[in-house]
Amino acid sequence: MTQIKFISIQEAMKKGKGEAAVRGWVHRERGSNKLKFIVLRDSTNIIQCVIEKEKFEEQWNDIDKLQIESSLEIIGDIKEDKRAPTGFEIQVKKINIIGLSNEFPINKDLNEELLGDRRHLWLRSRKMTSILKIRDTVLEALREHWRSKGFYEFNTPSIIGLQCEGGATLFDVDYFGKKLHLAQTWQLHAEPGIFALEKIFTIQPSFRAEKSKTSRHLTEYWHAEMEAAWENFEYLQEDAEQIVKHVFSKVLEKNQAELKILERDVKKLEPIVKKPFKKMTYDDVLKLLKEKKKVTIPWGKDLRTIEEDELSELSDAPIIVTKYPKVVKAFYMKEDPENPKVVLGFDLIATEKYGEIVGASQREESIDKLRENLIAQGEKPDDYEFYFDTRRYGSVPHGGYGLGVERLIAWICGLDTIKDSMPYPRTMTRYYP
Ligand code: 4AD
Ligand code: MG
Repeated sequence: MTQIKFISIQEAMKKGKGEAAVRGWVHRERGSNKLKFIVLRDSTNIIQCVIEKEKFEEQWNDIDKLQIESSLEIIGDIKEDKRAPTGFEIQVKKINIIGLSNEFPINKDLNEELLGDRRHLWLRSRKMTSILKIRDTVLEALREHWRSKGFYEFNTPSIIGLQCEGGATLFDVDYFGKKLHLAQTWQLHAEPGIFALEKIFTIQPSFRAEKSKTSRHLTEYWHAEMEAAWENFEYLQEDAEQIVKHVFSKVLEKNQAELKILERDVKKLEPIVKKPFKKMTYDDVLKLLKEKKKVTIPWGKDLRTIEEDELSELSDAPIIVTKYPKVVKAFYMKEDPENPKVVLGFDLIATEKYGEIVGASQREESIDKLRENLIAQGEKPDDYEFYFDTRRYGSVPHGGYGLGVERLIAWICGLDTIKDSMPYPRTMTRYYP
């Protein structure tokens, strides 16, 4: 027997006429006693298939009973049909039922909690499939950006003994009787890496024991981080702006169909590619929020979620907020030589209330200052000896940043919750499936 050459539903529609063999899952079905309409789904698209009873007398019993998500192979003639959901229809000549489906436990009435419990099945929805395709574009574009600038991919362990972003969000690991942690960032291990490779990046999971149930916090998230030798604070801001622009332009180029399924207003995405990002100091933000939003933030307090959201309402382009007070930022951020109360660090704030996407800084080079900062945060500097070696053997100016991949995807796709930006989200209350 000759092997059937299957093509994807997308390819079949491109072909537009003649015979085609496709396979996939039943997305919708309805029928009468003469006809059965099946909307078939594969990873590329959906297409309506029509089965006439008089041509399938022997198989009709099985065909008639087909339920949503049964898997099928179909051979038939494809033609344009304006009334069909995607503008094409297949007149079925041969049908091969591969796997029957029980009644599929996903329907329009399920709440977020139940969809979470059935996540492994909900992945098949057009919504999730579209998000997952955009996620794929995002991950590729992030790598593409850094590779094009000569960065090397450099990976670090997830099981480590030290905090980097404050003790409050550390997960403990029982490591053969020793208390270790899940890494909050690659940074402590990345900084030594620049002395070998100079410009490096990674995309790997980071872990935060976030006790908050917000729409932008996960306990395990994918963290796109870079670290660069010799570069200054301005370079970091430029690179962060360029990478965000590159990712948005790639998604706009490759994923128009998915953005449409998600009903994303692409007009809101275009300024991110076209307009220069705004740059403001923390002090400017305090003034602006007071003036425009009547929000008073005492100097020295971090910007909270609601304040970032107030700020993002004032701009259709992202905002890079620089020079935060030293007291609210991590121990490794370099003091501003012009004002030791603030650091050469910045947060990149998204539009449309999607919050902080990037956290960045020039790195402090003085071991004494690093020790002082660690002590001020209740840490034991002696635990950081390996990290201090970066400042002992040919120290160079350097800096880096971390970008939250899921926050970026939630923003691009216009999602209500960050949880939908990945296949299996982890939050305080969600760890199954
Ligand atoms: O600002 P953060 O904590 O910075 C760092 O971890 C640095 N060590 C990065 C570096 O310089 N290499 O985290 C960076 C980004 C945030 O801007 C945010 O986008 C994301 O990581 N992020 C989270 N995303 C999802 N869930 C969480 N709980 C997150 N915490 C941070
Ligand atoms: Mg941050």
